[in-house]
Amino acid sequence: MKPIVEARELVKQYPGTPEPAVRGVSFTIRQGEIFGLLGPNGAGKTTTISMLSCLLEPTSGSASVAGFDLLRQPAEVKKRIGLVPQDIALYPTLSARDNLAFFGRMYGLRGTDLRRRVDRALEIVGLSDRANDAIEEFSGGMKRRANLAAGLLHKPEVLFLDEPTVGVDPQSRNFIFENVRALNREGVTILYTTHYMEEAERLCDRVAIIDEGRIIALDTPQGLIDSLGGSIIYLGLPAQPDGSFVEQIQGLPEVKRALYKDDRFEITVRRIQQALVEVIAVFNRADMPITSLKIMEPNLETVFLLLTGKQLRD
Ligand SMILES: Nc1ncnc2c1ncn2[C@@H]1O[C@H](COP(=O)(O)OP(=O)(O)OP(=O)(O)O)[C@@H](O)[C@H]1O
Ligand SMILES: [Mg+2]
Repeated sequence: MKPIVEARELVKQYPGTPEPAVRGVSFTIRQGEIFGLLGPNGAGKTTTISMLSCLLEPTSGSASVAGFDLLRQPAEVKKRIGLVPQDIALYPTLSARDNLAFFGRMYGLRGTDLRRRVDRALEIVGLSDRANDAIEEFSGGMKRRANLAAGLLHKPEVLFLDEPTVGVDPQSRNFIFENVRALNREGVTILYTTHYMEEAERLCDRVAIIDEGRIIALDTPQGLIDSLGGSIIYLGLPAQPDGSFVEQIQGLPEVKRALYKDDRFEITVRRIQQALVEVIAVFNRADMPITSLKIMEPNLETVFLLLTGKQLRD
């Protein structure tokens, strides 16, 4: 599929900060894709999205959207993108409808076209019956949905969604998910940032994992998970085992890799249940006590943990 967003070595250093917030980020989003940017607080997701939506000038690097250069043709870029910012960007005292009408006029919409688009956007996010209520009377999840509607008014080719589900209940989250999928089915390409790995796993065709301003992995969710090679068993030992013990573990049929470090075994295995039986049997035969046991299932959280040594979530 053809590329619609191309980021090339984007760097952003905020004035007065010692380190860049984004340190050379490159990726390509294909037309029609839901592309995820997954990373912890402060990773540089919002900074990246802000550069791609012409809100923030990169310190260096370049990018294009639908073939238009971010720096040289910002007006063309802005016409084709919708941004749903992380912080709710709505006027609390105005009604949902008036807020959307305001945004629509900013996008250059007028008259019946504007009214029709506002109604349609409200309908998409399920707020038609609350259209005339002030935003300040909305629940958190409803505000998020109204925020999402504001990004849809001008039928963007590419929609940037910056953590659209933070602070919403599971029902609103599912609703937002359905909206995102439906828009995508209608042909909208989506860049979706999140620090929830389940969201990235469920929703995205491909995911870039970002940490400390750098992309550290990029693949389909399944590809990232497969790169782990299986589940991981962590076993704590009271003392360093001898070489033959390590070899016995390494030689087990279900074991792919066994490493001894930091007073524990890190054992990558194929089928977790069979592997546990095999491993525990070796420990029993050698009369080796186990001081701790932890199993990590292969998921994006584990990928992140192995790449960075950190938890994705606090
Ligand atoms: N206006 C600013 N001035 C100075 N530093 C900033 C500014 N905005 C962000 N930063 C810093 O840049 C880094 C990246 O921030 P950014 O908001 O892009 O992260 P994020 O991945 O969106 O995090 P979160 O998940 O918390 O939204 C952080 O260290 C942050 O403190
Ligand atoms: Mg952010």
